[in-house]
Amino acid sequence: MITGKPFLTVEQIQYKVKKLAEKISEDYEGKDLVSIGILKGAFMFFSDIVKLIQVPMEIDFLIASSYIKDKTSGEVSIHADLRVDIKNKHVLLIEDIIDTGLTLKYIREILLKRKPASLKICAFLNKKSRRIAEVPLDYVGFEIPNEYVVGYGLDYENRYRNLPYISIFKKST
Ligand code: IMP
Ligand code: MG
Repeated sequence: MITGKPFLTVEQIQYKVKKLAEKISEDYEGKDLVSIGILKGAFMFFSDIVKLIQVPMEIDFLIASSYIKDKTSGEVSIHADLRVDIKNKHVLLIEDIIDTGLTLKYIREILLKRKPASLKICAFLNKKSRRIAEVPLDYVGFEIPNEYVVGYGLDYENRYRNLPYISIFKKST
């Protein structure tokens, strides 16, 4: 079940998305940008932020999922790869949340082999206390505590993704 009130309201989310987009627009001025959304979780954040980034861009998606094998490793599968060639282009990976860091670390390593001109990461939420694999984060929306959150693209068993706000999820026992 989800707890009563939003953890992050629609207004807080939209304000932060705007701030991130402003910074990204400044940093990428005059550059050839490829924005990559990591599905499914990032779909809502991705569509909101790309509307506000004032730089011409190509758009593509990666579908990935991960599961933790033990405390220090996980397995990541890419279900659908990019279709754009990122060689010599400035790549911005857009992700919903960084938890252990295992997914992003794996994706980042695969994409770096394709020799982009640069590769940066924009994560809407960051659960730093859960980190297992270090990944450099260039843009972060909110630092959040170790709570399971849903909404704004984030799910629990593929539900709640459509909520326009973010809420803390507690398993009912
Ligand atoms: P990581 O590899 O542990 O960093 O996992 C990141 C992925 O796990 C995210 O892209 C989410 O899809 C999922 N995830 C991690 N924490 C949460 C959460 O609190 N709510 C919903 N999904 C989460
Ligand atoms: Mg995700």
